[in-house]
Amino acid sequence: MYDSSSIIVTGGAGFIGSNFVLRWLATQKTGVTVFDKLTYAGNLENLATVTQDSRYRFVHGDIVNGAHVRRILEEEKPWAVVHFAAESHVDRSIVGPAEFIRTNIEGTFQLLEAVRDYWGKLSVGKKKAFRFLHVSTDEVFGSLGPNDPAFSESTPYTPNSPYSASKAASDHLVRAYHHTYGIPVLTTNCSNNYGPRQFPEKLIPLMILNALKGLPLPVYGDGGNVRDWLYVDDHCDGIQSVLDRGICGETYNIGGMQEMSNIEVVRQICCALDEIKPAAKPYAEQICFVKDRLGHDRRYAMDITKISRDLEWRPKESFAGGLRKTIQWYLDNSDWVENVTSGSYRSWMNTQYAYSGMEGDAQL
Ligand code: NAD
Ligand code: TYD
Repeated sequence: MYDSSSIIVTGGAGFIGSNFVLRWLATQKTGVTVFDKLTYAGNLENLATVTQDSRYRFVHGDIVNGAHVRRILEEEKPWAVVHFAAESHVDRSIVGPAEFIRTNIEGTFQLLEAVRDYWGKLSVGKKKAFRFLHVSTDEVFGSLGPNDPAFSESTPYTPNSPYSASKAASDHLVRAYHHTYGIPVLTTNCSNNYGPRQFPEKLIPLMILNALKGLPLPVYGDGGNVRDWLYVDDHCDGIQSVLDRGICGETYNIGGMQEMSNIEVVRQICCALDEIKPAAKPYAEQICFVKDRLGHDRRYAMDITKISRDLEWRPKESFAGGLRKTIQWYLDNSDWVENVTSGSYRSWMNTQYAYSGMEGDAQL
């Protein structure tokens, strides 16, 4: 299916996108063009090890700018676009939803329009081989009760946060561009990722770094909210399987098979740190419960029957194993941590923890 042309990865300087790009260049022959706006979450340091690779190109651009996307499509003539670019943090979407509507909905629309133009001019063979892979989330399916069956690909969409609503809208647009115009699209809905290079506003890196700095570990509400944790390498492998063997127009759930309450996750982080980097007192003593997130979804869980049956993909990493690798990465990359925890991130943390009612200093 592949030809020698490269792929375009939107949002490739972010957490999952950069892990995907590094993996791509390490395992594939063809190149990657990263198209990224470099918001607070985009970090070129994530891609520092491949800057000398002649197969890699970085373009600083905003997906809302359709003309720019069109130009890059014409220049690169990719056989695939893998679309990660998004505003991705639920808490930020509660405080300021506008940017989520702009990037996740308007941006995906502009990207699809540019792809439609580009794809329409391809030869019959290239049209058939082309893929637009849209990376989405389990959060579009809403919230589960404790005994509800896990989300499947046919679970109705009931998004509850501005973030998940904006992702749901983008998923619908992607679907419509397949149904209406015949663009060969694939959509993946994945669960909570964790691993190296995750921006430390998300639960796991935030807890690791706060613990190491002796700061409070702020657990929202009663800590009983449940997420399914997916190690980022497993996710990237799943995306690759869908890109290689997925059926156009279909959607695929990707999950880690590691459902856990938040308090359990935080306790495991503390126990792992007690072993890897013991402090004077057990890290769990830093745990504190803070005001709950508005509209906080109680439980997400993924049924991955389809991708494991049809594409023979399953997650390989256990939570304990993935967590150790993740902790070690943050310990080994203190420069990265230092750089991302300065500047705009600091002011965001002030706003966030003033808003969620947390007492004490939660800054990194
Ligand atoms: P991230 O926030 O770490 O990175 C997002 C990247 O997109 C950044 O590099 C940012 O600069 C870029 N970007 C933002 N707006 C842009 C724009 N207008 N134009 C071009 N680039 C822009 O996100 P992530 O955690 O790596 O998530 C990647 C994708 O996976 C997102 O679509 C997200 O919704 C989805 N997802 C993430 C998770 C998770 O646990 N992290 C779970 C499910 C789904
Ligand atoms: P997060 O990493 O923000 O991912 P998402 O909201 O997309 O699931 O949060 C994961 C869970 O952890 C979620 O239930 C909210 C909770 N949480 C806390 O309890 N404290 C925190 O400081 C953060 C950032 C999240």
